[in-house]
Amino acid sequence: MNLYKEVIRPFLFLGDPEKVHHLAMDALALTGPLLRRFAPKPDPRLERTVFGLRFPNPVGLAAGFDKNGVALPAWEGLGFGFAEIGTITARSQPGNPKPRIFRIPQSRALINRLGFNNDGCDLVASRLQRLKESGHWPTVPVGINLGKSKVTPLAEATADYLLSFERLQHFGDYFVLNVSSPNTPGLRNLQDRAALDELLGHVQRRNTSGRPVLVKIAPDLQWEAIEEILALVEEHKIAGIIATNTTIDHTSIPEAQRTQGGLSGAPLQARSTEIIRFITKHSKVPVIAVGGIMNADAALEKFDAGAALVQLYTGYIYEGPGLIGKICQALLQRG
Ligand SMILES: Cc1cc2nc3c(=O)[nH]c(=O)nc-3n(C[C@H](O)[C@H](O)[C@H](O)COP(=O)(O)O)c2cc1C
Repeated sequence: MNLYKEVIRPFLFLGDPEKVHHLAMDALALTGPLLRRFAPKPDPRLERTVFGLRFPNPVGLAAGFDKNGVALPAWEGLGFGFAEIGTITARSQPGNPKPRIFRIPQSRALINRLGFNNDGCDLVASRLQRLKESGHWPTVPVGINLGKSKVTPLAEATADYLLSFERLQHFGDYFVLNVSSPNTPGLRNLQDRAALDELLGHVQRRNTSGRPVLVKIAPDLQWEAIEEILALVEEHKIAGIIATNTTIDHTSIPEAQRTQGGLSGAPLQARSTEIIRFITKHSKVPVIAVGGIMNADAALEKFDAGAALVQLYTGYIYEGPGLIGKICQALLQRG
């Protein structure tokens, strides 16, 4: 019997998605240090070294799940090989009006329009400092995903990213410039050549500790736009690409379920894999694959497309913590 799918999930799916998420996060924040003590023993055959960091296994938690870094020890305890917190913005902000997360079980998907609700970089930095001092800081790599504050005009985006980057620079093992959320007006324009050139240039100049800086891209880009991004990634010595964020293309789900926001889960799988294949064909930059990994086969598809690491979000909601172990098993069986 699958305890998560047959008992826990039906119960969780009775509640409002965002309330359930907060309850789960509170529980994980509380039990994280304990969970960490019972973390599954890493199998050395699953270890990967990517952009200079050692990952005990290649399955990570995607951004948006632990936006404020409240449950970092729990992710290692549940078996993730790395965890990415955020998106964090320079200023704290409430995000869009509720409801703003929607389940679409028949499509094994979610739509969200959260809009970077988060505590802001100062509060998160103090929280991370306390965690370091407590001795519960995870041994797995921690990524920090950064976005633009909603109140900051697009023309001042670079300064806004720099603020949170500088504030958090010493806490993250790697950083992600999120320029691909569909839920902050204009944000995805930062994927355009001139804007991205400016952003990457400034961030790398301030990157005094030489941390790996990655860019997270949208699945809705044209091939030419991705080629331009790849050229900039090379020019600015960007360590990797995270592909992909949620999609604004809702044609793959029933019309009645469509609502404004980014679509994730099973309907995103094929497009995200197509983008990963394109990137790994045209560039040597490491790719972290995310998008529609709902089972072990979908993860293998990403590795076959050339991904170095994978991340889970919607698959974790639908399949539960067992999915990490299943992906690791599938990788071991393949040898
Ligand atoms: C509720 C929700 C919130 C998200 N928040 C963020 C976020 O803050 N920053 C980010 O880069 N991606 C965010 N994402 C996108 C995921 O990290 C991931 O890129 C996307 O959901 C595709 O993966 P999936 O199909 O496994 O969910 C969010 C996704 C969901 C479903």
